[in-house]
Amino acid sequence: DWSMESFIELEIEKIREQVGNKQVLCALSGGVDSSVVAVLIHKAIGDQLTCMFVDHGLLRKGEAESVMKTFADGFHMKVIKIDARDRFMAKLSGISDPEAKRKIIGNEFIYVFDEEAAKLTDMDFLAQGTLYTDIIESGTATAQTIKSHHNVGGLPEDMKFTLIEPLNTLFKDEVRALGTELGMPDEIVWRQPFPGPGLGIRVLGEVTEEKLEIVRESDAILRDEIKKAGLERDIWQYFTVLPDIRSVGVMGDARTYDYAIGIRAVTSIDGMTSDWARIPWDILEKISVRLVNEVPHINRVLYDVTSKPPSTIEWE
Ligand code: XMP
Repeated sequence: DWSMESFIELEIEKIREQVGNKQVLCALSGGVDSSVVAVLIHKAIGDQLTCMFVDHGLLRKGEAESVMKTFADGFHMKVIKIDARDRFMAKLSGISDPEAKRKIIGNEFIYVFDEEAAKLTDMDFLAQGTLYTDIIESGTATAQTIKSHHNVGGLPEDMKFTLIEPLNTLFKDEVRALGTELGMPDEIVWRQPFPGPGLGIRVLGEVTEEKLEIVRESDAILRDEIKKAGLERDIWQYFTVLPDIRSVGVMGDARTYDYAIGIRAVTSIDGMTSDWARIPWDILEKISVRLVNEVPHINRVLYDVTSKPPSTIEWE
């Protein structure tokens, strides 16, 4: 793609000029935007870029490993991984209100990033994956009146960095095209949206290790089956949620009293409105059987058949 190629060349020139021989820090979340920014800047200045990846323990199965594998091993980037799992769990203990959980996770991310960034004394610039749409939406963001959206990357303004935001003239589809042009794998470029608070808002109510494990394992099975069915690109977003419901079941000869898991799968253009995805019955059947058989403590599977509005995509 000619225009993307020239965009890359131009941006690389600009980044080199702006940065000179100084150092750039980038918060890597594994999401499309921060990943593309990191790879673009790395292409421009190589080891003058340091990425920081905060594992808050609310990621999907295999995600932390996959970020390190892709960027550290694959792209040979300097990536510092911060294991903050215990910190987040401690802060979330006893908290069940959705907005309170969002605020705690968002704030804790900023504290952790701030503390760790302060240890890197020679950083001058901070790279962020701000898109054109993030700029035009801030201020009017209607979704924020319903749920406060915390993006990993929403960082405090009193940091002493100069911001670099090379994607701030681009729309999402252009960022994907850019990622592909930069040689990034489809798993990253076409990754479905994943909220900053992660699985923390997919365990409804108080977050516990046991419940996180149920949601993480069930989400992995759902993703696996959607992939096998070749539906990845047809469904905009799909995940499991764990409501605080237990119900009676029977397994072998024994009565069970265990959790019900919800499947949420939607089609959408931009997440502002959505319709529930018509996953074929036989695929839902496979998913359901696997969930009950493979994930301890699940004895019932629910399918969410509401559109947005009136429901939001996430359950919290
Ligand atoms: P809702 O649930 O508001 O979600 O219909 C719309 C889209 O936004 C994502 N989402 C979030 N993304 N931080 C984020 O970065 C958040 O706090 C957050 N809450 C929801 C959601 O996954 C969907 O794609």
